[in-house]
Amino acid sequence: MQIHVYDTAQQVGQAAAMLFASQVIRKPDSVLGLATGSSPIDCYQQLIAWHKAGLLDFSKCISFNLDEYCGLPVEHECSYHAFMKAQLFDHINMKASYVPDGNAPDLAAECARYDEAIRRAGGIDMQLLGIGRNGHIGFNEPADHLVYGTQIVHLTESTIQANRRFFESEKDVPRQAISLGIGGIMAAREIVLVAMGEDKADAIRETVMHDINPRVQASILRAHPHVTILLDRAAASKL
Ligand code: GLP
Repeated sequence: MQIHVYDTAQQVGQAAAMLFASQVIRKPDSVLGLATGSSPIDCYQQLIAWHKAGLLDFSKCISFNLDEYCGLPVEHECSYHAFMKAQLFDHINMKASYVPDGNAPDLAAECARYDEAIRRAGGIDMQLLGIGRNGHIGFNEPADHLVYGTQIVHLTESTIQANRRFFESEKDVPRQAISLGIGGIMAAREIVLVAMGEDKADAIRETVMHDINPRVQASILRAHPHVTILLDRAAASKL
């Protein structure tokens, strides 16, 4: 596990974008694992800027997103489909991008279908991750165990409160989500986790300094051979 600390959140985003750009240049038909939340936005803006400057071509790349809310129409501005379109997909030339369907009539079948689609694409080459305040990655919430495949998750109170800022009121925040499981994340060949701000400092400390523990799902990343953690000073303040 490599940990790099930067002065600003924007530098964290640029460093993450540099890793993704290198990946795409090295392997133009890369399978990219993408994330939502505020943490990846600087990274996406940098990738868009390099693409617009003619430096980065995604035309052979495929992407799979980590997660999506259940029961939220894809056109809803808070859906992860809408987020990814606005923050990245509308501005670059990705060959194909997939986000799990949180409105599928049979959610269990959708979980299996999503895992199979990633497998058929050859697996994820590089996975981008944010981290929840409670140490969740994707929407894998603190639990007594680790789940391998894509799963339906009941969001914890802490996550509902954290994500409430994007919705009009707390009651509008979906209570369920579909998320790549920990096995799916760990199967990525390379993982890049970005975290900014003081409210991530505890989760980062638990992730990198304590034993692997499913109450802090990100701690499993310590068992992965190629993980890079990019932090600003505030997120690194408790290391
Ligand atoms: C959500 C997403 C996670 C993300 C987390 C942190 O719960 N499912 O993938 O890492 O939020 O979001 P933010 O980057 O906005 O703090």
